[in-house]
Amino acid sequence: MYSSSIFDTFSPQEPQRAPIGVFDSGVGGLTVLRQIYQQLPNESIIYVGDTARLPYGIRSQTEILQFVREILHWMQQQRVKMAIMACNTSSALALDIVRQEFNFPILGVILPGARAAVQQGQRIGVIATPATAQSNAYRQAILEIQSNVQVWQVSCPEFVPLIEQNRIHDPYTMEIAKTYLEPLIEKEIDTLVYGCTHYPLLSPILRSLLPHQVKLIDPAVHVAAACSQELDILGIKNTHPPMPTRFAVSGSSQQFTQSSLQCLGYTPMVEQVCFADTVLS
Ligand code: DGL
Repeated sequence: MYSSSIFDTFSPQEPQRAPIGVFDSGVGGLTVLRQIYQQLPNESIIYVGDTARLPYGIRSQTEILQFVREILHWMQQQRVKMAIMACNTSSALALDIVRQEFNFPILGVILPGARAAVQQGQRIGVIATPATAQSNAYRQAILEIQSNVQVWQVSCPEFVPLIEQNRIHDPYTMEIAKTYLEPLIEKEIDTLVYGCTHYPLLSPILRSLLPHQVKLIDPAVHVAAACSQELDILGIKNTHPPMPTRFAVSGSSQQFTQSSLQCLGYTPMVEQVCFADTVLS
């Protein structure tokens, strides 16, 4: 579908130098960006945070579809060679639909996460946003790969707002995390999937609440590996030094600079973009 047109669309001589677009509603996708830095150090990245419209996890499918189309359209204008939905909510509600609409490959986090989960355990818990949990996307993906495992999904509506407000170490976050994990601990899960890219930022808290034998699955690790594989297959992996990462957000650039600092370990230059302005063709 995209393979015949990809070389026509991007930097004609050297498509491998084109950036990869990575997007999320906010800072959650930085957990995927970190993995890309580690596994694909030569790739240039454009990171999009749709911070003016987060949290995505309480939005309808119609809204998510519209936001995702706007962001991907903007990315197309920036001539990305590939896009990564570093957002489970978008991957659950929009990936299958928008994949057909753009002429570059689009990867989501759910399938790589589901594949990794079944390799680790049999009693799998998934913590996710309300929209992702309700969609059943993880349960379906996991059971399609391996039908004899058990899956429990828990919706965690308060996590994303707490993380975006830099309240990770707030005692309230620990309290609410206990409430969310309790039913999964009761089910004696052996594996827990971070079904939202924000949640690895809570890993010290979640780890401290879970029995030590429970394995944690971060789909970010596995989507970066899938991205590497796809770039190899398409022959567009960059072998030159990368451009500095470009950060574009729809909300306050200053706020994003502050909230991303801890995850990135450096102060990013952040520009503000109105994705809703992109004209859909
Ligand atoms: N980090 C995103 C996800 O993985 C979106 C969270 C949100 O905005 O609710 O679902």
